[in-house]
Amino acid sequence: MTTPFTYPAPRSTRNNFKCPNCNQALIPQTEARTFACSNNHSFDSAKEGYLNLLVVQNKRSRQPGDSDEMIRSRQRFLSAGYYHDLTDAIAQCIEKSAIGFNQTLFDIGCGEGHYMQQLREAATHASTDLQLVGMDISKFAVRLAAKRNLNARLVVDSAFNIPLFENRIDTALSVFSPISPQETSRVLKPSGQLIMVGPGEQHLSGLTELIYEKNTPHRGNYDTLEATDYFALQQQIEVKKTITVEGAAILDLLTMTPYYWHCTPEQQIALQQLDRLETPIHFYLNIYKNMKGKAPQTGA
Ligand SMILES: C[S@@+](CC[C@H](N)C(=O)[O-])C[C@H]1O[C@@H](n2cnc3c(N)ncnc32)[C@H](O)[C@@H]1O
Ligand SMILES: [Zn+2]
Repeated sequence: MTTPFTYPAPRSTRNNFKCPNCNQALIPQTEARTFACSNNHSFDSAKEGYLNLLVVQNKRSRQPGDSDEMIRSRQRFLSAGYYHDLTDAIAQCIEKSAIGFNQTLFDIGCGEGHYMQQLREAATHASTDLQLVGMDISKFAVRLAAKRNLNARLVVDSAFNIPLFENRIDTALSVFSPISPQETSRVLKPSGQLIMVGPGEQHLSGLTELIYEKNTPHRGNYDTLEATDYFALQQQIEVKKTITVEGAAILDLLTMTPYYWHCTPEQQIALQQLDRLETPIHFYLNIYKNMKGKAPQTGA
């Protein structure tokens, strides 16, 4: 009796990015830097090592997302450590979760990669195996994130059309970035969590009071999320302190926020001439449980 020949099981492609044209897995090809699906749609990764899957039909503008100038200002400001307490709070949230840093974390609207870098450093320090996936709709942002060499899988695409298969992610992180509850829930494992970071009532009031007559705190992206039942709030952590921003970092702070667009040229010059600016920084970290498979889901 002959034993029937069995082919080796195909390597799973479920962790690969999905083709934006046909949703098949994108497989690395023998040609350097090319990824293609079984329907021969192919994409070359950039020399920095990220994939751009934002196809023309899904773009609303020629250069979607934050501009190069906004992103570079944010990179300088964040790397000066002004939001250190927030970074620490995010890392602690992950470290204290049941699986600690041994997990796959997906940074939605990752910008230039500041938070992924801090998490990579914390995970390495704790000798754990953190898999990082980062996505932003701005090519400028993802390019800078790629230059950090974080051993992260990086992609340019939209939070409203995530190029990942279902049930891949343990933690989705959104720091001041737009999210789709439905798409986020889909790519999260049923046991997954979402950490949403948004502004508290006092956030940057030292800056906004120099621009607006009346300070109207903004709600971040919580409303979008709470209008649906894809997620259930488990915990809220508040981070609040006063910082003194010095010199050129004041203009960086302005440029990295939407307040930049509301500021008159005179106000901009006045801010540029300040030596120091004292302001509260105030954040909420909302930790949500994925409700996929646990309750009827409505809305998007
Ligand atoms: C306020 S910034 C925050 C960036 C980063 N999370 C941080 O805190 O440093 C918002 C980010 O969301 C990105 N973004 C805007 N719309 C997006 C979308 N539809 N999908 C993915 N990213 C988006 C922007 O390009 C920008 O990098
Ligand atoms: Zn395809």
